[in-house]
Amino acid sequence: MDHKATIRAIREINGVPSDFIPLHAPVFRGNELKYVSESIQSTFVSSVGKFVDEVEKWVARETHTSKAVAMVNGTAALHISLLLAGVQRDEEVLTQALTFVATANTIHYLHAHPVFLDVDRDTLGLSPSAVESFFEEFGERRGADVYNKSTGRRIAAILPMHTFGFMVHMDEMLRVSEKWGIPLVEDAAEAYGCEYKGKPAGTMGVVGAYSFNGNKVITSGGGGILVSKNEEMATHAKYITTTAKVPHPWEYVHDETGFNYRMPNLNAALLLAQMEVCDDLIKEKQLLFERYAEYFSKVGIQLLSPPETTTRWNYWLMAIQTENRAERDALLKATNEAGVMTRPIWKLMSELPMYKDCQTDSLTNSVFLEDRIVNIPSGVKG
Ligand SMILES: Cc1ncc(COP(=O)(O)O)c(C=O)c1O
Repeated sequence: MDHKATIRAIREINGVPSDFIPLHAPVFRGNELKYVSESIQSTFVSSVGKFVDEVEKWVARETHTSKAVAMVNGTAALHISLLLAGVQRDEEVLTQALTFVATANTIHYLHAHPVFLDVDRDTLGLSPSAVESFFEEFGERRGADVYNKSTGRRIAAILPMHTFGFMVHMDEMLRVSEKWGIPLVEDAAEAYGCEYKGKPAGTMGVVGAYSFNGNKVITSGGGGILVSKNEEMATHAKYITTTAKVPHPWEYVHDETGFNYRMPNLNAALLLAQMEVCDDLIKEKQLLFERYAEYFSKVGIQLLSPPETTTRWNYWLMAIQTENRAERDALLKATNEAGVMTRPIWKLMSELPMYKDCQTDSLTNSVFLEDRIVNIPSGVKG
């Protein structure tokens, strides 16, 4: 790969001739200041307020779910999602090795064990056939439950993650989940605004979680939202993430161990303004992707995109596939030294010290992608 030409093209396509280009930066050009100021003027900057209610209503409406619950970040939303799906101490959750560390961490928060399986090359997300093969080899039905023959532990959930907003093959994943009777939780942290065959990301399993961290398509500064079609589950999510306080005019009565995971109203104010412009931002990101596609196809470099027949994409992070690990590293060095921020896809979870002893399958595709994928600047201009 001609690095100088690649850097020149990225700069030109982004309209940034010489300054530093970040991988992704938030854009505030709507009602952000207005709503944040309103929140400050109202003094409701903290745990309750109208903006929290409004973002929750907005997301429930957009995702056709009965209820959305706003939290401090996507990690918290995923932690609660797994808890509500019934994951308990010493149980197992099947997930992908190629993911951001929060996916695995939330399993560990519950003292459960991740099992790291392979991804599909086209979706970069958990492979339904890898999950099915795992069940065929290790699954042992005992009554309504399925145990892992090799560890003796109950398999409590399947946790696919929609990498960069590419949707996992959900029809097939749901079939495996139904066949084995294991609840599906979606890590949709990167996929707000995405759909799989018309169904919003995060809404196809029992529960799903989005992130609105500063690097996402839209942001609340820090924030996450849990969605579920199961109203009872979502209502319980709200209850336990707001300290499990029994309603009472003055008494502090808490009837289970709750969490203080609620999104502050100040952050929700920012998020509501971002929600209002989300579709426009996605359209602008699509234009950026199309400019990249035109250039990279001309020079024979593979720009990744999700399967068109299934995914409505939010164009969150764009990525190219290099020839091999050495080429990946050379590109990372050249671009970052030139002030064009690029990043490799994550290290596999099974390579991290705290997860190195977890069970895995061959991870053939995961290793292939880990060696080759580089994210390129994917933000729109402010
Ligand atoms: C796949 C994935 N899961 C979970 C999270 C956690 O979200 P947050 O950073 O909002 O805690 C992120 C990202 O930020 C993510 O990319």
